[in-house]
Amino acid sequence: MSLSVSRRLAAATAIAVAGLLAATSPAALAAPTAVTAAPTPPDIPLANVKAHLAQFQTIATNNGGNRAHGRAGYKASIDYVKAKLDAAGFTTSLQTFTSSGATGYNLIADWPGGDPNSVLMSGSHLDSVTSGPGINDNGSGSAAVLEAALAVSRAGLQPTKHLRFGWWGAEELGLVGSKYYVNSLPAAEKAKISGYLNFDMIGSPNPGYFVYDDDPTIEQTFKNYYAGLGIPTEIETEGDGRSDHAPFKSAGIPVGGLFSGADYTKTAAQAQKWGGTSGQAFDRCYHSSCDTTANINDTALDRNADAIAYAIWNLGAATPVPPGPSFENTADVNIPDSPGAAVTSPITVSGVAGNAPATTKVDVNIVHTYRGDLVIDLIAPDGTAYRLKNSSSDSADNLVTSYTVNASSEVANGVWKLQVKDVAAQDVGYINSWKITF
Ligand code: TRP
Ligand code: ZN
Ligand code: CA
Repeated sequence: MSLSVSRRLAAATAIAVAGLLAATSPAALAAPTAVTAAPTPPDIPLANVKAHLAQFQTIATNNGGNRAHGRAGYKASIDYVKAKLDAAGFTTSLQTFTSSGATGYNLIADWPGGDPNSVLMSGSHLDSVTSGPGINDNGSGSAAVLEAALAVSRAGLQPTKHLRFGWWGAEELGLVGSKYYVNSLPAAEKAKISGYLNFDMIGSPNPGYFVYDDDPTIEQTFKNYYAGLGIPTEIETEGDGRSDHAPFKSAGIPVGGLFSGADYTKTAAQAQKWGGTSGQAFDRCYHSSCDTTANINDTALDRNADAIAYAIWNLGAATPVPPGPSFENTADVNIPDSPGAAVTSPITVSGVAGNAPATTKVDVNIVHTYRGDLVIDLIAPDGTAYRLKNSSSDSADNLVTSYTVNASSEVANGVWKLQVKDVAAQDVGYINSWKITF
């Protein structure tokens, strides 16, 4: 590795700071503290949502240019979404119906767990019109709901409510699929649905930020998300009842949703607060052949996808089950430069029944001038080492990150250690703190 003069100076400064901290901080281990945290909604990766849109575009291109009810592109879209959900641990089912002489499909996906008597459902229509690929209408809602569901799986979320997701067929023929689903539910099953969230057109190219004016709790949840971003919203007025929430609402189920605008025109006042072009439709390609992957505003899609996760986490997972207790060591441990020995920082865990979870979380805070030098392991009480990080050419400095370790074969109680070894000369630092969460 080559070091610039400024990097050497930075290294020297860090040694001085580390020495100062070591001299002033207590030598004894900080007492372990048990911490419980509310689950934080994840940031839905825009790239993942856009990758689903690219797949929908390819499906349309390969199937006559659309993904409409009764056409091959619709079934291919359903198969794509179903495969992703099956691989992520959802229980999926295809519901078939007939409309205009063709077989239609709804896809229902249940996330195992939660209160079966209190179901939070999120959905979107997956069909396009016949005139185009339907990427904003409604690949956008379909891809974002899919990615939110996959985020539930990635988080291993154990929500209070039971989570269900739906992708509807033949919306463009008059909400046919969602009507069929709601009408085929026995009354007792309808009564278990505590809320339905609808996402239809959420990446419009000249976007507005509209929240359905329906159930007050759901509406407020979306408004809170946008208030947190400092972005004003308006009540959705471009045709109440024009999407799949309508059958749920008719059945007495609380509903809500988001919308970024269809063929209405953006006013000067709206362009003022949201940007974009006044005097132009929110979506000039609405129901047209130009509703392609080019017909998406990434910022709107990103925000609305994150809003879906925010709503699911807040409305569905109010009482957190994971994570379990945390234990932390905040005492500094100097990491000698290579070829020095590995150093460890211990944490004594007690009062945790049974084994560590498959999602044992390790938060690491290391002050260093070149973190690529570091090889880091978590050492279980029985001495088993779990590699958290190898050395690399990553020249960034401090390492502040968390790792998820499958430590399910380890008894939780005992002394865990964070072991750090510096394997390249010249850059140095110290373990500032680390934390293990069960
Ligand atoms: N559902 C309509 C479609 O798919 C789009 C639409 C128009 C809409 N107005 C709406 C969606 C209001 C949600 C809310 O063509
Ligand atoms: Zn449409
Ligand atoms: Ca070094």
